[in-house]
Amino acid sequence: MDAFRIQGGSRLSGRIAIDGSKNASLPLMAASLLTDEPTTLRRVPALSDITNMARLLGELGCHVEGSHGTITVNVVDQTMSHARYDIVRTMRASICVLGPMLAKRGRGSVAMPGGCAFGARPVDLHLRGLEALGAQIRLSGGDIIATADRLTGAMVFLGGPFGSTVLGTANVMSAATLARGTTTIESAACEPEVVDLAEMLIAMGARITGAGTPRIIIEGVDQLGGTDHTVLPDRIVAGTHAIAAAMTNGDVILDDFPYDGLLAVIDRLGAIGVHIERIDPDADPKRCSVHVSSERRLKPVLVTTQPHPGFPTDLQAQTMALVCLADGNSIITEKIYPERFMHVAELTRMGAQLYRQGPTVMVQGVARLIGAPVMASDLRGSACLVLAGLVAEGETVINRVYHLDRGYAAMDETLNALGARIERFDAHASEAPHADPGRQEPLPYAAQLVEQHGGGGSHV
Ligand code: EPU
Repeated sequence: MDAFRIQGGSRLSGRIAIDGSKNASLPLMAASLLTDEPTTLRRVPALSDITNMARLLGELGCHVEGSHGTITVNVVDQTMSHARYDIVRTMRASICVLGPMLAKRGRGSVAMPGGCAFGARPVDLHLRGLEALGAQIRLSGGDIIATADRLTGAMVFLGGPFGSTVLGTANVMSAATLARGTTTIESAACEPEVVDLAEMLIAMGARITGAGTPRIIIEGVDQLGGTDHTVLPDRIVAGTHAIAAAMTNGDVILDDFPYDGLLAVIDRLGAIGVHIERIDPDADPKRCSVHVSSERRLKPVLVTTQPHPGFPTDLQAQTMALVCLADGNSIITEKIYPERFMHVAELTRMGAQLYRQGPTVMVQGVARLIGAPVMASDLRGSACLVLAGLVAEGETVINRVYHLDRGYAAMDETLNALGARIERFDAHASEAPHADPGRQEPLPYAAQLVEQHGGGGSHV
């Protein structure tokens, strides 16, 4: 099991490009089940979730060429329609094969996903939406079994207690492309990943309007063709690296930055004192270049996660690491997953001052974080701990980085290319590698600041 050993204190500088989005790629790959022709996807990130989705498509009768970068999916056998629990439990997004299988094959079964590290995460809205299109759904032996002769367009409401559902919208929208008649999805998720899926489906021959708004209208067609689609850049990876640059007082340019998908984040980071400036104002705002810089003292803020275009829950943990070093008290409220706070206890081990009450955490800024062994227990929480490790005094060891590898392609290599000092090692090997004891380590960045500025409440 891999772990990271991070020597804190390096200032990040340089230029990197943001790869395609994981959360866009997964439903796009699932949508390849809707056609008999080849589907080619470009800029697919090299992540374990993508490998798992490719494996799942293989088990559903697809021939998948390539594992990242450019992949092509060809459906060669439509008789297999069961997504096994072994795959579903490693990747909840497996549920998004259900709508396409139901629409194209008239049946599909997917193991019911269990809870995850940050809560129950039900799929009731997916199922309600597919039932509204005429599917018969039952649960048997832990599997969701869905059947339909041909789906029929309907009015579908996808609002739940925490807003809409992103993958639920993807599932119902994909299924409705081949339904008889018109489907209207009300309270649809507006996330850019839904828009990317709609754009690909339209290129395949689907008739969809309104993607990116809460009302999506789909006129069903009899069949869809193949396509060649470039996945949109990953807004969460982009936001994470912008925060990494800011935390280390770095000087970083990010290319292929999905600026218009991150406006809420750019707004909150601006309030903290982190500026994300476009350096090519004429480029497509979905994929442009930005320079990240931060003010000497970081200011505290209020951040509330919300469905898009609000502040994304997938950047809540990383933002918490950032405001740990702000000059005052910040308040972070989680409105999508009220239990998504596993990183709180681990950040506390590194010297953060965090006070949680229900879905809200008060973050009292500290002058410095201190390296410690910590345990990652979910993807974005792991990213938060890496960011904290980059600025902590001394050494931080993060165990179980397989969580991180689900959503960040070789994050250690990317950050090291910008000047970080992260070593990946096998935590189970009898003797883990250590930094050369004879080497003169530069003073950690946080300590340099204490030297330069005599401490105080801020990090830059
Ligand atoms: N919900 C229900 N019923 C449902 C579905 C969702 O009550 O049937 C609730 C959820 O429990 C949650 C809220 O609705 O409180 C939103 O969940 P949503 O369905 O939108 O989440 P998702 O589609 O399963 C995707 C991303 C998540 C991201 C969320 C919210 C993928 C593969 N996953 O999940 O990404 O947090 O949208 O933006 O696209 C991550 O990348 O780390 C990650 C967890």
